Amino acid sequence: MIAAPLLFEIQKALSEYLRSAVNDSANNSRSLVAVELNLKMSEHAEIEIMKPIKLKTNHQFNPLGIDSPQPSFSWQLGEEAGRFQQSAFELRVQTESGVVWESGVVAESQSHAVLYAGATFGSQTQYGWTVRVRDSDENWSDWSEPATFETGLLQRDEWKGQWIGETPRTESETMPASTLRSRFKTESSAVKRARLVATAGGLYEVFINGERVGEDVLAPGWSNYDKRRQVIAYDVTTLVQPGDNAIGASLGEGWFCGYLFYKREREFYGTDPHLLLQLEIEYADGTRQTVCTDENWKVTSDGPIVLADLYDGEVYDARKELGDWSLPEYDDSGWHAAHVYEDNGAQLVSKLNPPIRPIEELQTVELYESAPGVKVFNLGQNMVGWVRLKVNAQRGTKITLKFGEWLNDDRSVYRGNLRTAKATDTYICKGGGEEIFEPHFTFHGFQYVELVCDNDAVVFDADSITGRVLCTDMEQTGTFECSDPLINRLQQNIVWGQRGNFLDVPTDCPQRDERVGWTGDAQVFVGAAAFNYNVETFFEKWLCDLSDDQLETGAYPDVAPDVACKNGLHWPIESMSPLSAKILRGSAFGEGGCAAWADAGIICPWVIYERYGDARILERQYDSMAAFLKFLEDESNHFIRPFEGFGDWLSIDTSPAEIFLSPTPQDLIGTAYFAYDAQLMANIAEVLGKEADVEKYRTLAENIKKAFCDEFVSPKGRLAGDTQTAYLLALGFDLISESMQDKVFENLVLALERRDWKLSTGFLGTPLLCPVLTKFGRTDMAYRLLLQQEYPSWLYPVLQGATTMWERWNSWTKEGGFESIGMNSFNHYAYGAVGDWMAATVGGISFAEPGYKKVRIAPIPGEGITWAKTSYASPYGKISVDWKTGDRAFELNFTVPANTTAEVLVSGADASLELPDGMTLVGQTATGLECIALPGMYRLSTLIR
Ligand code: BGC
Repeated sequence: MIAAPLLFEIQKALSEYLRSAVNDSANNSRSLVAVELNLKMSEHAEIEIMKPIKLKTNHQFNPLGIDSPQPSFSWQLGEEAGRFQQSAFELRVQTESGVVWESGVVAESQSHAVLYAGATFGSQTQYGWTVRVRDSDENWSDWSEPATFETGLLQRDEWKGQWIGETPRTESETMPASTLRSRFKTESSAVKRARLVATAGGLYEVFINGERVGEDVLAPGWSNYDKRRQVIAYDVTTLVQPGDNAIGASLGEGWFCGYLFYKREREFYGTDPHLLLQLEIEYADGTRQTVCTDENWKVTSDGPIVLADLYDGEVYDARKELGDWSLPEYDDSGWHAAHVYEDNGAQLVSKLNPPIRPIEELQTVELYESAPGVKVFNLGQNMVGWVRLKVNAQRGTKITLKFGEWLNDDRSVYRGNLRTAKATDTYICKGGGEEIFEPHFTFHGFQYVELVCDNDAVVFDADSITGRVLCTDMEQTGTFECSDPLINRLQQNIVWGQRGNFLDVPTDCPQRDERVGWTGDAQVFVGAAAFNYNVETFFEKWLCDLSDDQLETGAYPDVAPDVACKNGLHWPIESMSPLSAKILRGSAFGEGGCAAWADAGIICPWVIYERYGDARILERQYDSMAAFLKFLEDESNHFIRPFEGFGDWLSIDTSPAEIFLSPTPQDLIGTAYFAYDAQLMANIAEVLGKEADVEKYRTLAENIKKAFCDEFVSPKGRLAGDTQTAYLLALGFDLISESMQDKVFENLVLALERRDWKLSTGFLGTPLLCPVLTKFGRTDMAYRLLLQQEYPSWLYPVLQGATTMWERWNSWTKEGGFESIGMNSFNHYAYGAVGDWMAATVGGISFAEPGYKKVRIAPIPGEGITWAKTSYASPYGKISVDWKTGDRAFELNFTVPANTTAEVLVSGADASLELPDGMTLVGQTATGLECIALPGMYRLSTLIR
């Protein structure tokens, strides 16, 4: 048996040799030379079948507290599994007392999202599972190492505790955070297992015996607290000690009752934060003890967090610190009895997505004074989270930190775009040595921190401030790099835009008084998001938020969770022009259903299904999606959707006087999306085997397409509005009959030429620009747009020093400075949607079948970029592609994970290319050779004609 490292060495040496052979033959008259060195470990009979690894339950590693009656199981085969194709699997689930489910031998290749089909689960029980797999030659692997999952409290009456908090406030204003505590005694010495389940109307941080429970921040996150409250489970076995114990929590307002949205309103879900905890201790002798929140807990609001609000920031007076308040011996005689709040009947659900956690730290890269006594810390990156402040000062010294994303001309921190958000943290020192402060119940979007201290003698240096980046703790899945450093910065900006705005819900921006789950932004970005990070459970959770707030008519709201219309009118319609007021009618009156925004309710589940291959998301959302489509049918007139909504939001051609009047007609946009939704619903019904619906939705889609063409397309292929976006929607959503497509495409090209190869698109056209050009064989034009450096373009902000995506193409320009402060975020991910095309077409990685069971490897090189290197951690394992061009040669290296196949486009190659073992020819297109590849690593070299 040849050892793996040796194999790779042989492979590398041979490839070097053959690469030089390609170069030598560059003058050769043959048009193509191909070489491949595809030694595969699985080709060696001696190599044992790799046992499954990376076992996940419900898409998470060893989750605690799950409540789904039918969890899913996924595994991978590992990078060394070579050509392995799974022909069958066998899965076993057991508890300490024995096997609860055996799948038996299932002759399927599925290794992602296999559903449990055993006996009903018990609450708070630990299950272990293991799986083995069979290859196509009937050889079985060993059983995998076991994975575990634990159930939470499955029945509502198993929650023994009460919701508790501070005495209800009498006035509606931000209050100090409260702190709650209780003592308990363990009943026996040997604690075998202890689990805490926690939720709140508000935000909590829990402590046991002086130790913080978990690393989650802003827990339990944001949902429609009236309907659904997220529960997080923690393993606290090591925190519970024999004898006397104490448990406690601090409690902030957060999304529950703090300020939300731009009208400076609060208390969207309730007036006072409250908490529900339950600690279950299991002893070695089999007995159990339950500790939970109840009226015997004590509370105080006389602690150090004097004020905390998501938008405004935190005021922390260290002189008021409570000491060791979560230790058992603490004297809480000055505290009073907790108030018991009524249960509002909301469902308590196990949190589907990972909690928000600190994921990275940023050091100060520059420190200067913008005015006497005003220190500016530049963290070098626009980020979301907060800072850790280190200071050594006298008791009572006050330090104020103000946050901003950009600088004014005089290098002071620009905060004009925050609107009413105060984004200010204040720390008051207790004195006596170095003090470290981090806030608890707020977050900011910033690159610059302005520090003012009321004592000039206090010394600050670069180490005084450290950025703490907060984000939903998702697994980073995609990497992309190429020969152009500006494009690499653009990719980084896209990733940072996502990090900054994926805080339990996909928010539009993280800095001003908004930070809400705008549906339109989410649907244009979901594809790019799914490349960068594993967003499967993130969207699964957010789609619950969206359906929770679906209107009775079937319309989806503009934002989810829906705070836009909760307290009445959403837009200040009275201050708008009559035209804008008319266009915004649906949104303004809280009727939802806004074109291209509400459509997120169908588009996002479909994209998540395509990327991860688990059809349960479609099943779960199906009725809700069908109701939305019905709403669209009801509100359309002969299949034409009304002239309403946000249009091609922030398109460069929009008149500043009428920002709601889109240069691409609103009814065209709405109808295009209506047709797209109907088509997707037909696909979805097909996946779910709902035959009658397939027909129904297909016919609907055809009818809408016909109406679209009759209404908006001229016989010469010109579209109403004649904008880039109009053509992109029509071509991107397949609305145009084949015979007309060329004409329509020509008009798109004219629209680009007229702009001298610059874009004029807004939120809706931009994501389609490059994909549509590639779809119609003009990837060269897509490169031209991508690499455009003049305004407006993707690279213009990069050249101005952007480190995140901007809300507007002209958020800041050399000529005009800042755009209107009314709406100008420097961290808005929508235009980052291009990342999906970059990964698929420049990088070369996309899916050909849901969940990447069939991968598509199809990099198309273009002028201006000479190499690209891309990887993606798919549900089946890592896919990687790197290519380079030069000296007339095109080199393509790629890896296809075990238990998948790949469609491969060898760009520029023709049939004279000798295909390596593992690859077979499918056909030739104008772009190159289309092949199929088995799992493995491949290196190809071709001469460019
Ligand atoms: C948000 C957007 C959103 C838009 C809708 C803005 O205030 O920031 O991203 O989609 O409103 O008009």
